Amino acid sequence: MAKKNEVRYVCSECGYVSLSPMGRCPGCGEWGTVEAEVLSVSTEGRKSGSSPLSPRSILGLKPPKRLPSGIGELDRVMGGGWVEGGVVLLGGQPGIGKSTLLLQVCGNLARSGSKVLYVSGEESASQVALRASRLGADSEGLELLCIADVEMALGSLNDHGLVVIDSVQAMKDPGEGGWPGTPSQVRATAQRCIDTAKSKGIPMVLVGHITKEGRIAGPMLLEHMVDTVLLFSGDDGSPYRTLRATKNRYGGTDEVGLFQMGERGLNPVDDPSGLYWDRGDQSVPGVALTVVMEGSRALVAEVQALAASTSFAYPRRTARGTSVNKLHLLLAVLQKRCGLTSSGLDVYVNVAGGMDLRDPGADLALALSLASSAMDRALPSDCCLLGEVGLVGEIRPVGRTGQRLREAARLGFRSAVVSAREKEEAPRGMDVMAVRSLAEAMARLG
Ligand code: TYD
Ligand code: MG
Repeated sequence: MAKKNEVRYVCSECGYVSLSPMGRCPGCGEWGTVEAEVLSVSTEGRKSGSSPLSPRSILGLKPPKRLPSGIGELDRVMGGGWVEGGVVLLGGQPGIGKSTLLLQVCGNLARSGSKVLYVSGEESASQVALRASRLGADSEGLELLCIADVEMALGSLNDHGLVVIDSVQAMKDPGEGGWPGTPSQVRATAQRCIDTAKSKGIPMVLVGHITKEGRIAGPMLLEHMVDTVLLFSGDDGSPYRTLRATKNRYGGTDEVGLFQMGERGLNPVDDPSGLYWDRGDQSVPGVALTVVMEGSRALVAEVQALAASTSFAYPRRTARGTSVNKLHLLLAVLQKRCGLTSSGLDVYVNVAGGMDLRDPGADLALALSLASSAMDRALPSDCCLLGEVGLVGEIRPVGRTGQRLREAARLGFRSAVVSAREKEEAPRGMDVMAVRSLAEAMARLG
């Protein structure tokens, strides 16, 4: 069949396609990422005799097998463990514990009889072996390859139950030009791993470094290519780590895994509520407590606000753990519906423990922490505040109130404020106040 070569120019960062070469990609604005790609195009159509594809009914197809990782927090985030032929990208800052977590996983699987391959393009065999023995992950079935050539590494695969590539930025695809870590190398390496994982039905994990902006380094396409993207993060100096899925073809993305880095690797956090809440006496103006949902788990969150008279022409508004827009909105509702003016006040909000409040059920606690600091009056330290604040100052019900109240009761909270539209029953021994509006909540809490 006659063929001709056609050249097109593809951005390795965002996938933008052009018919002419260019220095700067119009799609993502990056320089030097548009590369020539030669396509072999057949000049004849497909022969009429070629056999047609025969689609199959979905009912005859079996779902792929799952292999639990042996680490409950990781399985919770992935929706049940590794999937046959599934490719996971694990991103996180250097030193956060990606290699540690994956070595522990490999050790667990090897101990339970699977053969696993850990490929390191970053560390020497003796360094990985030393760490594995410290973690208690050194086991017969754990095989190690310290090599940067991805083709050779994947060529050694046979009946492995899991493969870890640490990291996708350190590996080099011999069929592609450029240094390891460049967008084209990362893309080629990832594609080779994905093809191998799918053809052999082996689950694979690619470790990915992240940039200063928090994105996984390499082409944006990388996240589209893999099945699951996990992000491992933690505050500087804190031993706690959170693991979230930002993309998951085999499960949800709302669960969070919580770990603590210790002397012998990462351990699951047993009582996660203690992570974000210090059980000391919180009878201080500006502190409000709530229970937020992180996936299927209820966690106590402590919101702290500081409102102090300003010495600036424009008062300062700073928020950590929530957005400044949310802060502006709640201050406007407090002014309009509750008569609390903050125009002469600098306002700072912080959510303790580095938690990110995504749950609208925390609105009431945010608003009351602001009011508490502005009025210099403390809220009760055993009261849990649950409610979404609407633009007209109404308190709306939140999801899973029953579960949140039970968690608060378990931890010793004796009262709670919820929306009057809430239908959930209060746990025994807990005094639950039902309020219609923010102004009513403020009046009831004094
Ligand atoms: P590492 O897994 O190498 O991080 P990454 O692969 O994400 O770059 O983790 C390195 C950090 O973890 C290092 O600062 C030391 C710390 N650590 C412990 O505190 N305890 C341990 O048992 C291990 C293995 C590492
Ligand atoms: Mg590492």
